[in-house]
Amino acid sequence: MADWIPIALGRDIPDGVTRAVIVDSRELVIWRGSDGVAHVWEDRCPHRGMRLSLGFVRGNALNCLYHGWEYGAAANCLRIPAHPDLTVPPTIRANAFAATEAGGMVWMSDAGADAPPHLPELTPVISLAIEAAPERVLPVLGGSTAQTLVTLPFAGGTLQVGWHRVHATKTMLHAAGTNIDIAAATAHLRALRQNLEQGAAA
Ligand code: FES
Repeated sequence: MADWIPIALGRDIPDGVTRAVIVDSRELVIWRGSDGVAHVWEDRCPHRGMRLSLGFVRGNALNCLYHGWEYGAAANCLRIPAHPDLTVPPTIRANAFAATEAGGMVWMSDAGADAPPHLPELTPVISLAIEAAPERVLPVLGGSTAQTLVTLPFAGGTLQVGWHRVHATKTMLHAAGTNIDIAAATAHLRALRQNLEQGAAA
């Protein structure tokens, strides 16, 4: 996972929200603090493995639902409620990935990827799950899995469709655009999904 991968529309992760997402069979959480910054972490508390996506955001920290360990924006544990006087060792930290936002999408990467993507601000359209492998989905969009984003002319505007692999036979699309009729673009992508999924079932 060396490149930047679009994993959600930023619009769908408002301040104070956690969202579970599976990227290439890895369970991750996206959360956004009150400062508006989106974070992408492994969806696992370092204490006993609880899903952090079930936790809650308070200010710019994510709190685990189970025993309330609190993790700051830098992913280090700030507070252990059962030991309020403890100075938490800096080695206790969630597993964080690099995260950024561009073109209305949240992007993630393992450390060491190239510079994050630069895109103009785009109007979010829809995120769609398709029960088909990316190798089937991307050619139908006119692209290939070698592309992070597929650019489609659409009804006088332009659609930018990012994607990520959920697992071998499931793909998530994240569409945004410029000069775009959101309802028409949404209907177009839903029809494409229906065709792909019916084709897979045939
Ligand atoms: S499992 Fe998260 S605080 Fe215990």
